[in-house]
Amino acid sequence: MTSVADIKITRVEHSRLSETKLENIPFGKHFTDHMLEADFINGEWTNVQIRPYQPLLLSPATAAIHYGQAIFEGIKAYKNPQGEPFIFRPYDNFKRFNASATRMEMPEVPEEIFMEGLKMLIDIERNWIPSYADHSLYIRPFMFSSDEMIGVKPSDNYKFMIILSPTGPYYNTPMKIYVEEKYVRAVPGGVGYAKAAGNYGAAMHATAEAKKKGYDQVLWTDAFEHKYVQECGTMNVFFIIGDKVITPNLESGTILAGVTRDSVITVLKTLGLTLEERDLSMDEILEAHKSGQLKEVFGTGTAATISLIKELRYHDYVMQFDTDKWIYTHQVRKIMNEIRYGITPDEHGWMYKI
Ligand code: COI
Repeated sequence: MTSVADIKITRVEHSRLSETKLENIPFGKHFTDHMLEADFINGEWTNVQIRPYQPLLLSPATAAIHYGQAIFEGIKAYKNPQGEPFIFRPYDNFKRFNASATRMEMPEVPEEIFMEGLKMLIDIERNWIPSYADHSLYIRPFMFSSDEMIGVKPSDNYKFMIILSPTGPYYNTPMKIYVEEKYVRAVPGGVGYAKAAGNYGAAMHATAEAKKKGYDQVLWTDAFEHKYVQECGTMNVFFIIGDKVITPNLESGTILAGVTRDSVITVLKTLGLTLEERDLSMDEILEAHKSGQLKEVFGTGTAATISLIKELRYHDYVMQFDTDKWIYTHQVRKIMNEIRYGITPDEHGWMYKI
């Protein structure tokens, strides 16, 4: 078993940081100087190292490229006003990563490698965490099958990596959402709850069609009746109807158990709203809109944080919202930001100090 002491570090000779403009840096296009890498070979994790960020040399027969045994996570690191780095709830992502690994018949990554490796990497790259409002350092842990073999079977070898990308706001303007009734994201018994790379690849065609119609993302509905809402593009989704907040429950295994979703649920409860995790049909949403009870709609995710939804299209019915008049979404966003940026005390134990 690898211990932290076994993590070998090779540093860059020249940092690219001074050449990188961090203010309003676009999501996912720039990467820090170093990356973490580990290999699963002969039933154990080995070669754990932090080394300069660089391309990988892969065989064209690398199993993941053919059969999609690939999973990932999204986590963020922030700086408090004193400039100290913190990671938001990384242990929850670590647990979800291994739940995804199990579903995809991949080996679990040990805590010493994931958590200690992450901590060491963020410590080395702490100067890459932007200090501007709504900016952060996006952390992308991922794992893929690395056998050089095109027979269909779980690989014997895997590669685990963490790369880091400084980022500004992801969806910075309120979004227009198309309720999807033709394509399906996930079915019970499938991999919807796992952060499997293929879930995102499979969503792209539907999203591209929605974009052609003038929408930013789709709101997925259930696979059998296209009646109940699931999640929205790369986000979980919340509806404020009257004095209740409703978000789809996780029981069917078709929805990602978002760490931001869970945090927002905790914060919403402190605002005196009644929270319901349950099946929510488009008919109920439509009725609430017609009666003036549908107040606010928003998405949550690590990359997206909290994204306002200004328009929902269901069949030919277009629901539009004046997001400037909203109360709770802005309040939750503010509370979450104050915790993440260390402006108010973190009573929930969410911020992990480096
Ligand atoms: C995240 O929110 O971290 C995601 O994984 C969404 C997306 C960037 C794929």
